[in-house]
Parts: sequence; C-alpha cells; structure tokens
Amino acid sequence: MNKYDEIIQKVNSIINLDIPLISNLSNLSRVIYESFENTCWAGFYLYNKEKEELYLGPFQGPVACTIIKNGRGVCGTSVENKKSILVEDVHKFKGHIACYSLSLSEVVVPIFNGDDIFGVIDLDSTFLANYTSDDVIALEKISKIIELNLLKQEK
Ligand code: SME
Repeated sequence: MNKYDEIIQKVNSIINLDIPLISNLSNLSRVIYESFENTCWAGFYLYNKEKEELYLGPFQGPVACTIIKNGRGVCGTSVENKKSILVEDVHKFKGHIACYSLSLSEVVVPIFNGDDIFGVIDLDSTFLANYTSDDVIALEKISKIIELNLLKQEK
C-alpha cells in the first residue's frame, strides 16, 4: 500500500457517523497533521456564506487567525476560485496571510457541499515547496470523503 492509500484508509477509519461533525473534523485535523510530512499547521477553516468569510475550525499547530474574508489570502482565494492552491513559497503569493511567521509553503483545498463551499483544508510547512501535486490529489480525496460522508450527515 502506498503512503496515500494509507492516509485515506486512516481517514476512513477515524470517521464516525455517530458523533457530531466538529468531533470528526477535530480528529481529522490530527490525522492530516501527522500524515503530511513537515507540516507545522493543519486544519479547517469553515465558510460563512452570509458574511462571505471563513472562520477558524478544528486545527493542530500554533494559534491562527480566526477570520479570513472571501478572496483574501490563500484560503480566501481558494474559496473565491473554488480551486485547490499549492504555494511553493508563501512570500511569492500576493496577499498571503502570515498567521505563523515561520511558515514557508502552503496548500489549501476547498471542501464542497454540493455547489456550495463548506470550508477549506489548510496545511502549512516551515520548508519551502513542501507539498506536491500528489499531496493535493490526496487532500482532494479527503475533502470528497468529508463531503460525501460527514456533510450528508448534517442535513
Ligand atoms: N496562510 C493562510 C492563512 C491561514 S494560516 O496559514 C493557518 C492564508 O493566506 O490564507
């Protein structure tokens, strides 16, 4: 089994449909943090459609900024464009929000709920270009698992 299959297996095994969404996201933030090498921050920002902003969700790592407006930073840009963003050098990303000054690279993947955005998965590393397109594919799979299992549960 390759490392990505192992990550997906871990994600599927940690999900429990009998507990609240926030509890599942909390455990998932830990699994994601541990699974992607050299990660110093991993977690969720959840989207408030009325306010057009993300707010901090469950995470692992240093204290982070709590509100990110749609279109701002890597996270808000991912929401606005409804696309994953891989940032090899955060200093070269215009508008990057530096929650953690030692962070050098980042990946953000949107989580959909049908056509709407539910939130994003955000990972930071103190290494330059730490994340690859294969990491993005794995994180998009995790995002889909959340949408198809956990968000369905919320309705
Ligand atoms: N760097 C992000 C902000 C969130 S922190 O990395 C945890 C951004 O530019 O949106």
